[in-house]
Amino acid sequence: MLHTADLGRRFKSFFPDSTEIWGCRVPGRVNLIGEHLDYNGLPVLPVALERALCCVFAKAAGGTVSLANANSMYRADAFENVAEIAPSPQAHWSNYCKAALIGLNRALRVSTFPGMQLLVSGNLPSGAGLSSSSALVVACALAYLQVLGVRLGKDVSRVALAELLAGAEHYVGTRGGGMDQAVILNARAGHALKIDFFPLRLEHAPLPRGCSLYVCDSGMRVEKSGDSLHRYNAGPALCRVLTALVEKQTQEEIDEGFRLARLGELCHGLLCLTYREAEELCLRSVPDARWSVKAIAARLGTAPDEVRRRYLGETPEPAEGFPLQARLRHVMTEFKRVELARDALLAGDTGTLGELMNASHESCARDYEISVPALDDLAGAAHDAGALGARLTGAGFGGATVNLVPDAREGQFHEHMARYYAEWRMNAAQCMFKTLGGGGADYFGVLST
Ligand code: GLA
Repeated sequence: MLHTADLGRRFKSFFPDSTEIWGCRVPGRVNLIGEHLDYNGLPVLPVALERALCCVFAKAAGGTVSLANANSMYRADAFENVAEIAPSPQAHWSNYCKAALIGLNRALRVSTFPGMQLLVSGNLPSGAGLSSSSALVVACALAYLQVLGVRLGKDVSRVALAELLAGAEHYVGTRGGGMDQAVILNARAGHALKIDFFPLRLEHAPLPRGCSLYVCDSGMRVEKSGDSLHRYNAGPALCRVLTALVEKQTQEEIDEGFRLARLGELCHGLLCLTYREAEELCLRSVPDARWSVKAIAARLGTAPDEVRRRYLGETPEPAEGFPLQARLRHVMTEFKRVELARDALLAGDTGTLGELMNASHESCARDYEISVPALDDLAGAAHDAGALGARLTGAGFGGATVNLVPDAREGQFHEHMARYYAEWRMNAAQCMFKTLGGGGADYFGVLST
C-alpha cells in the first residue's frame, strides 16, 4: 500500500493542476456467514478487511469527473457530471463511480454538478469476491460528499449512506442487497457486523479469541458486473418468485389482502412468525422441488409472460424447471445459521461457529448452487489443514473462501495450504491472508495544498 506522501505525488502526476487534495480509505469485506440473504431482508454476518481501496481526490474547476487508477488494468476515464449520466459499456469500472454520483445527486437534490479528479489505488484484489466493486462505489461517494461539503456522520449518517448506495449500485446492473455497503461503512475493528435489513440495524460482535480468520483466494475471478451478472441476478429473481408463492399461500391461509415484499418479512413484519412457523409455511408454499414458468403462473393465477416480466427478467428457464424448493431451503436454513453464528460469536464458541460455516458452504453448494469445484477443493484443503470452518464467501462462482483457524494450528495451516497452492502453481503468500477485522471507511485528510 502506498504511503500518504506517495499518494499525493502520484495524484499530482495524473492531475498536476489540483490544489487541495483529500483521501479516503475504504475496506473490502469477507462474509463470515449469511450468503444471498441480504436481498431477502434476512441477516448477514460480514467482517471488514484491513485490505482497502485508497482514493485520493480533489475538486475540479468545471463539471468533469476524471478517473485514474494506479492499476494499469483500469484505463483512465472522464465523464461530465450531469443530471442523467449515461452508463459506460457494461463492466466498465467508471460505472461504479457514476452509480455513486447519480445516487447522491438524486438523494441530496444537487442542482449544480461539480467535477472532481480521483486516483484509485490500494491492496484489495478485484474480482476476488471481497467486494472491491462496492468499495469503489463507497470511495467515490465519500469523495463526492467531501467535494459537495456534506459531512459524513453529521449531515448524512453512515447507515443512511449505506442504504442509499446499496440502491444506487443497481445502476451497474447487479441487483445486490445491502450487505457490502453496510459493513464497509459501519465496521468496527476486531468485530464482525450482524446486519439486519429494511430498515438497516447493526450489531457488532467481537471476533473470537484463540482463532483467526484466513481469506484464501481461489484465483477464479468473479466480475459481478461482467460475466457473473446474470448468474448473480438469478438469485434475487428466484427469490422474487418464492416470495410471490409464499405470499399466495399466506393469502389463502391467513388473510386475502396480505402482501409480502421479501421473505424476511415473515418473521419481522406484520406476521411475526416464529422460525418454525415460517419454515412450515414455506414448505407448504413450495410443495414441489422443481417449477416450470407455466406451473408458477398457474399457481399464482397469472400468465407465464407476466411471471417472466415481474419476477424472472432475463433468467433462463432450465428444461427441468427452477429448483425453487432447494433455493428456499438454503435461504431459510442459512437464516437460522446466521442467528446461531452470532450467538456462537458472543459466547466465544468457535467449535459451533466452525460447524455452522461448514454447513453454510454445503448449503451454498448443494441448494443455492453458487459454488464451483475450485471453491469446494479450497474449502476441503482448509479442513485438511486444520480449519474449524471453511466456506465460500460473497456472491460465489469463484473468488475466495473464509476459514476459521485455531491459533494453535496456524503453522500447520500455512504449511498445508502452501503445498496445496504450489500444486496449482499458485503462490500462497499472494493468495492467502489473515484478517483480524478492519474498521469502516474513513477520510484521511488533506494531503497537500
Ligand atoms: C454480493 C452482493 C451482496 C450479497 C452477496 C451474497 O456480494 O453484493 O449484496 O448478496 O453477494 O451474499
